[in-house]
Amino acid sequence: MKKILLTALLAITTALISEGQIVNGVPWFDNNGKIVNAHGACIVKDGSRYYLFGEWKSDSTNAFPGFACYSSSDLVSWRFERVVLKQQKSGLMGPNRVGERVKVMRCPATGEYVMLMHSDNMQYSDPHTCYATCKTIDGDYTFRGPVLYNGDPIRRWDIGTFQDSDGRGYLLVHHGLIYELSSDYHSAVRLLPKIEGVGESPAMFKKGGIYYLLTSHLTSWEKNDNYYFTSKSMEGPWTRHGTFCPEGSLTFNSQCTFVFPQLCGDADVPMYMGDRWSYPRQASAATYVWLPMQTDSVSLSISEYLPCWSPIEKPLLNSRTKGDKVEYDFDGSRVAVLGKMTPHGGYAHISIVRHDGDTIRSSLVDFYCRYASEGIRFVTPPLPKSRYKLIVEVAGEHPKWADKRKNDYGSDDDYVIVSRFLTYLPTSQE
Ligand code: GLA
Repeated sequence: MKKILLTALLAITTALISEGQIVNGVPWFDNNGKIVNAHGACIVKDGSRYYLFGEWKSDSTNAFPGFACYSSSDLVSWRFERVVLKQQKSGLMGPNRVGERVKVMRCPATGEYVMLMHSDNMQYSDPHTCYATCKTIDGDYTFRGPVLYNGDPIRRWDIGTFQDSDGRGYLLVHHGLIYELSSDYHSAVRLLPKIEGVGESPAMFKKGGIYYLLTSHLTSWEKNDNYYFTSKSMEGPWTRHGTFCPEGSLTFNSQCTFVFPQLCGDADVPMYMGDRWSYPRQASAATYVWLPMQTDSVSLSISEYLPCWSPIEKPLLNSRTKGDKVEYDFDGSRVAVLGKMTPHGGYAHISIVRHDGDTIRSSLVDFYCRYASEGIRFVTPPLPKSRYKLIVEVAGEHPKWADKRKNDYGSDDDYVIVSRFLTYLPTSQE
């Protein structure tokens, strides 16, 4: 039994991995073959590139060795740019200090890149929010000292940042404090009404006029069930909701750090970014969990853990027109169809056609779900070695039904969305 399970797991995992995918919870390697070391991170889009900033952890000490910057055109392959803020000779980011939760924003008023961070002593008893600036996104940042509010340093630990659509920048602090930043982002000018019940690692995004604030409980490097708040205004009132991942999953074994509003086809899909910490060997063994989030008014969720998935992807097929199709040639190895179920989903005809023209299998597959969810919609059965074509075709009909009181249920359209085909690589067991 155990062996069968293991084989099945291996098979599913190998089937899933293909190029251009974010693979969660495993070390990622940069262009130099080194582990991507950017924890408590954030992403800034600048021009056509994505810049990832994070804690450049070490395996031997929790002391601050620097903040790293990587860049990418697809959110998947990362090029190491440099350690953008190095350990300072002395002071708040000097030797034997902690440096965490680096966040960078481009200030619209000055064009400067402003980096905010948590600085502390090794016992976490001397917290400060500090900042550094640079003229270019991936240059050497100049450390500028503590962020001041009313002339005093902000003496707090976990931070996040949020840039609103009107260009205002905000510093998010643990336990529900939010400061509005000055127009140059160098200091804090206003403390917003406190949000009761917030924990650590605050992360915020806005979608459809609603502000979402994610936060974790206080369990140090241990994972817990992170939860969220919503509001129509930064001033509040904020509503506390529960978890955005299934309860007990410990946020799919991670702690939130940032939400990046990535573009997926034409849709704006917030991407959850979390840390799977591994103290004390963080540089080698701490990994990342990045997942697409689903929003529906004030409800926020990551309904499904995707071991791997493709960001910023135009679907291979996104159509409601009967007969529209996408084809994939393969050689008898198994193929999986990755696609999206939505409230507007319909049926697809999926057929396997052998090179001699014989349709050896035809199936009807449902792309409807009340809540959008990406996943595997079809896997070909084992086939004798030969050349085949897999065809996914819009059927032009959708599941719908009514209950005994004549309430309608089911889909309202015929959409079939195919994201990509995944080739199942044979495992050693086969
Ligand atoms: C929490 C914080 C982290 C770090 C650890 C240290 O997890 O969110 O940034 O400070 O505690 O214990």
